[in-house]
Amino acid sequence: METNKPRTGKRIREQLALDFSEAISVSVSPRALSERIGTFQDSLRAPIHRWFKYPAGFSHKLVDTLIEDYGLDESHWILDPFVGCGTTAVAAKERGVNCVGIEAHPFVYQVARVKAFWDFDLSALYQQIESLLTALHKKLSRDFSLDVSEFPELIHKCYSQRNLARLKIIRDTIESFDCSEEERDFFRLALTDTLRTASTAGTGWPYVAPSKYHAKQSERDGLEAFGEQLRLMYDDLKVVLARDRRRVETELLLMDSRQKYPLNDASIDLAVTSPPYLNNYDYADRTRLEMYFWGWARSWGEITEKVRDKLIIAATTQIRRNEFSDDPLSKELGELDAQVYDELRAKIRKLERVRLEKGGKKSYDLMVAGYFNDVTQVVRQVYRVLKPRAPFVLILGDSAPYGVHVPTEEYLGKLALGVGFRRYEIQQLRTRGEKWNHNPQRHKVGLRESILILEK
Ligand SMILES: C[S@@+](CC[C@H](N)C(=O)[O-])C[C@H]1O[C@@H](n2cnc3c(N)ncnc32)[C@H](O)[C@@H]1O
Repeated sequence: METNKPRTGKRIREQLALDFSEAISVSVSPRALSERIGTFQDSLRAPIHRWFKYPAGFSHKLVDTLIEDYGLDESHWILDPFVGCGTTAVAAKERGVNCVGIEAHPFVYQVARVKAFWDFDLSALYQQIESLLTALHKKLSRDFSLDVSEFPELIHKCYSQRNLARLKIIRDTIESFDCSEEERDFFRLALTDTLRTASTAGTGWPYVAPSKYHAKQSERDGLEAFGEQLRLMYDDLKVVLARDRRRVETELLLMDSRQKYPLNDASIDLAVTSPPYLNNYDYADRTRLEMYFWGWARSWGEITEKVRDKLIIAATTQIRRNEFSDDPLSKELGELDAQVYDELRAKIRKLERVRLEKGGKKSYDLMVAGYFNDVTQVVRQVYRVLKPRAPFVLILGDSAPYGVHVPTEEYLGKLALGVGFRRYEIQQLRTRGEKWNHNPQRHKVGLRESILILEK
């Protein structure tokens, strides 16, 4: 897939410069939300949302609920500064609310763009799908032997040579197929999702180290899985396009959400997001299989340069110790909330000591410092563009690296008051982390996932 540069600018600025009706009135208490609202489970079954299985995604029902509770319509704008594979953008579009989504991971951003583009002529798309599949059946029914040595070793661990050759032919046929660029992107996303379905690797791989992946019983034929996925995507489009809906703007920006957004001050009615959690999850690694297959990268180093280094710090794989000072927590945080700053500094010092006693010597100390430095910048940026009294809703988890508990939601709530937010509220959604309980190496601190609501 190619990364198209987003339209950052004039049109959206003009839109947002319009004098919107008064900011929505906020009662900082959205309806009780189900405990799986922070997970991707609901989205795995919903049209469009299910086009790419992103374990880091959240439930579209969160956005649906907020739109309903706050009474948003086509005169309002939603912002998601960590839009991921586009859950917020798709849910807002379906419900007729304008949306700006920001994402710094180029591959995931591209997934979101395809999911948010619905302006197809459906019968033309249907014809194209049929002729692509016919061409592929013809090519793949012949005996062929194909050189698949271009792929990094990791890819070979996921497929038999035969299936990999078939997937490669599908890829190359898509690339040379006579179609519009939007149709090509649609086909590319169908193949991207097929990569997991067709592989022998278990879910979670390759985020889980390749040596430890659990093989599924058998792999699925690439062409069969691709055909199924294409038809599912086509049917989903048919379903959403048949619904009555208001025409709205959906803008996706490939950029770092710590930077200033090309949006006017006080122009957004609701911000909703799920930032990376402070739990050592490496988003760059999550798409290694896909990026290797499409030739976006060939090595860990290349993925670091193209993705890992562009994201806020939330994993130790992003840390290069020599790039941090001896006092890694930004002084700015002390000005926002002195107590949070002191507590965080003490925990960081403790982690600095504890890591030296551990085999892995993980840089959790710097991960915690980097995380709060980075997320605070995002809170500042979002504050600027929100209308007075508008809410910023965050789904996030707390953390306990090496057993040192960091109440992320509470610290962020307090820091946000320093930024200028009037108040914050925390609602616990669920407890989490139990699946690791069998691991004797792991800490026993109970973790939770919460919703943090800030009001400007
Ligand atoms: C928890 S996920 C959000 C998932 C999203 N709610 C969804 O349903 O797809 C966090 C996202 O933040 C992105 N991200 C990390 N650092 C970023 C940054 N500095 N700017 C923009 N996006 C960033 C990651 O790539 C990841 O996709």
